[in-house]
Amino acid sequence: MSLPASIKKIIKPAVMRLKPVLESIFQLESKISRFWAGSAHKRLMFVQWALPPQPECFDHHIDLYYYWLASRNPLWVERGVFGSLALKGGDVLELACGDGFNARNFYSLRSKEVIACDFDPKAIKTARKKNSAPNVKFLLADIRKDMPRGKFENIVWDAAIEHFTPGEINKLMAEIKNRLVAGGILSGYTIVERKEGKSLSHHEYEFKDKQDLLRFLTPYFKHVTVFETIYPSRHNLYFWASDGTLPFRDGWSFMATEHING
Ligand SMILES: C[S@@+](CC[C@H](N)C(=O)[O-])C[C@H]1O[C@@H](n2cnc3c(N)ncnc32)[C@H](O)[C@@H]1O
Repeated sequence: MSLPASIKKIIKPAVMRLKPVLESIFQLESKISRFWAGSAHKRLMFVQWALPPQPECFDHHIDLYYYWLASRNPLWVERGVFGSLALKGGDVLELACGDGFNARNFYSLRSKEVIACDFDPKAIKTARKKNSAPNVKFLLADIRKDMPRGKFENIVWDAAIEHFTPGEINKLMAEIKNRLVAGGILSGYTIVERKEGKSLSHHEYEFKDKQDLLRFLTPYFKHVTVFETIYPSRHNLYFWASDGTLPFRDGWSFMATEHING
């Protein structure tokens, strides 16, 4: 309902005087709540990661409310964004989804349905509690024995391929390929091994470089893109693989390009 012009004319100067007052009140409230949310998530991170046993996945609400701002490292957002560039709009299978943050906040809005699975009951419980959405289903499944069945336009394997041995990765690639529709895309993220060795005891195999990751993908897919980002604390590898079109390649429907000769 919109107000008559005469009333608007009377109210407008009062609203203009009130706006800076309201803004400073809410800036103060935001500052207090930012501080509180940040310090609560810092304590949560301490309990989860500094006290044994160490978890296998990260609660991304800690990134959202504390760790991103403390570290200035956007890596966790980068993963969601690069993963969602590969989305085709249909059904998605997310392997080893952890807390389910990406399923809800990066994939669900641009997909028909997301089936997200993990073998850790605590991760699935957290996912259902913190990251539920109408078109996201969280399933408890060990993907080595029990990968959800079906046909998917996208399969996402993010921050988890390094949790498997090279032999397991090979077998899982074949299972993934069977579940992709023609032209479906596998996407994901992993890390390069540091000089000092593996960064997490749960990791079975960390990749040596881009070529080392490529060799697991090229036997199964006609087109593969592997690219990296390098931060002081971490060297990241991203991958998109498909028999159809990949992001930023010719024929990708979300892009228009023009080549100017000369
Ligand atoms: C580093 S976390 C990544 C979670 C999530 N993809 C993310 O990006 O936040 C790795 C996840 O792999 C899961 N995982 C490891 N082995 C698995 C298996 N065999 N089947 C299903 N999930 C597995 C772990 O439980 C953990 O949640």
